[in-house]
Amino acid sequence: MSEIVLQIDGKEVTAQEGTTILEAARSVGVAIPTLCDHEKLIPYGACRICTVEADVHGKTNLVAACLQPVENGLVVRTRTEQVDQARKIILEQMLAHAPDSEQLLELAQVYGANKDRFAKESNFCILCGLCVRYCDEVKKKNAVAFIERGAKREIVFIPDIAIRECWDCKECFPLCPTSALQAAYYLTEALMSPPVPSTPSCKGNCSK
Ligand code: FES
Repeated sequence: MSEIVLQIDGKEVTAQEGTTILEAARSVGVAIPTLCDHEKLIPYGACRICTVEADVHGKTNLVAACLQPVENGLVVRTRTEQVDQARKIILEQMLAHAPDSEQLLELAQVYGANKDRFAKESNFCILCGLCVRYCDEVKKKNAVAFIERGAKREIVFIPDIAIRECWDCKECFPLCPTSALQAAYYLTEALMSPPVPSTPSCKGNCSK
């Protein structure tokens, strides 16, 4: 693999061909926020909080740092007005789903995002896909999956698989930025559990 030389926030950076801007930035200590990125998972590009500005072939674009491969001569800026504005709007949209998420609130402070800008959504999930991809790519179980499309898209546990695989795993829980996953799991678990039989009335013969 050949070496690529690029510039990130004014620093000259050397990276291996095939690596992403995010990896190159991390290699020189430049922090870029991420929500859907995970070292064990294939980059997915769902959350876009890693948006950076990059000059490619004379054109300036906003790109997802976790997906965009490095190129010779690439000039990357990780904090510009446009980048911060993009991250702010992304966070405001996510906070409509999960206004109490600590991870989102911390980022909201950095980018001045208003958690009340958009009307609240009923679904806590921000569709980062960490749980779905971790269960598929790392655990090979596929106990949690996306269903539906567009605004109706959400995650669900597959009851038949979850009942066998999840009770002693739950490795996906700490990955979730919003706790939507735990809620979905416990709902599934409750639906899978046999109903607790009600205590029969003793009808006046309780001492027997
Ligand atoms: Fe890059 Fe989510 S971390 S799109």
